[in-house]
Amino acid sequence: MKVLIVGSGGREHAIAWKCAQSKKADIVFVAPGNPGMENVAQLIQVQNTEELIRFVKDEGIRLTIIGPEQPLTKGIVDEFIKEGLAVIGPSKLAAEIEGSKVFAKNFMKKYRIPTADFEVFDEIVPALDYILEEEFPLVIKADGLAAGKGVFICNNYTEAETILNHIMHQNIFGNAGSRVVIEECLHGEETSLFAFTDGTHFVSTIFSQDHKQLLDGDKGPNTGGMGAYAPAHFTKDLKKKIDDAIITPTLKGMKKEGRTFRGVLYAGIMLTQNGPKVLEFNCRLGDPETQVILPLLDNDLVNVCEAILNESINEVDLNWKNKSAVNVVIASGGYPGAYEKGYPIKGLDKVSDETLIFFSGVKKEKDTLLTDGGRVLSLTALGNDLKDAQEKVYQEVKKISFSSSYYRTDIAQKGILKL
Ligand code: AMP
Ligand code: GLY
Repeated sequence: MKVLIVGSGGREHAIAWKCAQSKKADIVFVAPGNPGMENVAQLIQVQNTEELIRFVKDEGIRLTIIGPEQPLTKGIVDEFIKEGLAVIGPSKLAAEIEGSKVFAKNFMKKYRIPTADFEVFDEIVPALDYILEEEFPLVIKADGLAAGKGVFICNNYTEAETILNHIMHQNIFGNAGSRVVIEECLHGEETSLFAFTDGTHFVSTIFSQDHKQLLDGDKGPNTGGMGAYAPAHFTKDLKKKIDDAIITPTLKGMKKEGRTFRGVLYAGIMLTQNGPKVLEFNCRLGDPETQVILPLLDNDLVNVCEAILNESINEVDLNWKNKSAVNVVIASGGYPGAYEKGYPIKGLDKVSDETLIFFSGVKKEKDTLLTDGGRVLSLTALGNDLKDAQEKVYQEVKKISFSSSYYRTDIAQKGILKL
């Protein structure tokens, strides 16, 4: 069959790479993709959802997977379903679990899903009054989508006041910042868990861990993610606890709200002294966690998607390689702030065949790949354990260079220290 992936980042490259290995997939398309993905997929350029749907019908595509949150929160899945097309991802109503932090927090409160205590504000003056009385650190979040950059941990009143001004007065996130959530700062280790769900049942993956902050030692501003590893060092008991206390009530609650969630539910979790608590829900696979999860997954991804569509995901057992994976993102200097692009990427041909290269922000000029985004590409290596995978990936990362490139040097270190 023909398969289509929507999106253009490293996550979509990993999904396309995995689908290309499926016995069932003859051709994989990516819309719009990027030229770094041409090794596994054909790139399609369309202007809008209408054109995309026409392409799907004309080509007879039997499975479409939507990668990023933006089209999901805008309702692309509803458009596909109206046309009777097979698509993986939640409806617009269900995607609001990521699209609005206010919705997600109120939902969690209603269904008693453990999360940080919070208040919602739609005006700056009451928000400033509130923080005057609160203890620091506290966390300020823009309500809407902000590419992973809308969350701020504030250590004192002045910092919080500045952030509130930026979000609610100077509107740095536009409409996405017209409301904010102010919440308790949770402490502990973070982990990501994905649940493939048909709306009623689910199967969840192994744990992975993203590195959201820019600098080594989890310092600096939040980014879209600078690297990831899996499996993270947490136990089966903990997974069961999270499945029971977080994923199950979330899916039940969403159904009850008339927002049945089908696709991949991403729970970003803080493991606190008082148990696991939800930091955020996302309505899709994580980036860069997908770049470590899919290389470790033994199942055919097309089969898993078909089980979501046939509402038989409860019959699927996910099987995992007995290996560890580490992914390191190479970014443009300046990211997540302003950065330059258009620099040639050197050394790609020197990377070992065993290492996976997933491209995100690249373009092609005369057969040369040039940088074209903040996160440019990432490398994934598999190893017998995390340390082995980490050593392997950094050996390869060193071979790649472009003007003012930047990467973290401690991806997976937290996991290795726990070995
Ligand atoms: P979010 O987009 O809500 O996941 O937030 C991005 C990142 O900010 C998370 O991965 C955490 O590292 C951090 N974060 C979010 N909420 C909190 C919180 N309540 N306490 C501590 N850190 C948080
Ligand atoms: N890795 C963070 C995200 O995908 O939102």
